[in-house]
Amino acid sequence: MSRTLALCFVFVGLTTACGGDKGSDANAAAVAEAEKVWQERCVTCHGADGSGNGPGAAALEVKPRSFKDPTWQSSVDNERIKKVIVEGGASVGLNAAMAPNPDLKDKPAVQEELAKKVRKLAQ
Ligand code: HEC
Repeated sequence: MSRTLALCFVFVGLTTACGGDKGSDANAAAVAEAEKVWQERCVTCHGADGSGNGPGAAALEVKPRSFKDPTWQSSVDNERIKKVIVEGGASVGLNAAMAPNPDLKDKPAVQEELAKKVRKLAQ
């Protein structure tokens, strides 16, 4: 590959990563908000690592499942995960202890990042 061509690739890479791309800024904000929501609202029951052992889970009649269960992971799609988060467990026939988060209804990017978080916790 010529030197000029190689430099050109580096330049394109840099402008994509840090150039004034509003889309990626907005996404970084969604990632940050999702992380905040996870820490502030979800960890209580689901546990920091998603295994379902948060302090709030002890008192629940139906315990949150472990997000680390590969069978469960492959049995649900992101649409369902997002529906449970926004509309609550009861909306899909799960226990109502999984409360709805209606303030996230108009924040699809945050919902998406929360779904990704739930997926990442499987690893
Ligand atoms: C008060 C405790 C509690 C809090 C807080 C909570 N959950 Fe849950 N969650 C549950 C319980 C209990 C279930 C399982 C309900 C069942 O299996 O019937 C559940 C289920 C789920 C499921 C579906 C799992 C499945 O079986 O399909 C997802 C996804 C989920 N929670 C994500 C979240 C996220 C993200 C948050 C934070 C926004 C959150 N939960 C906050 C208790 C909680």
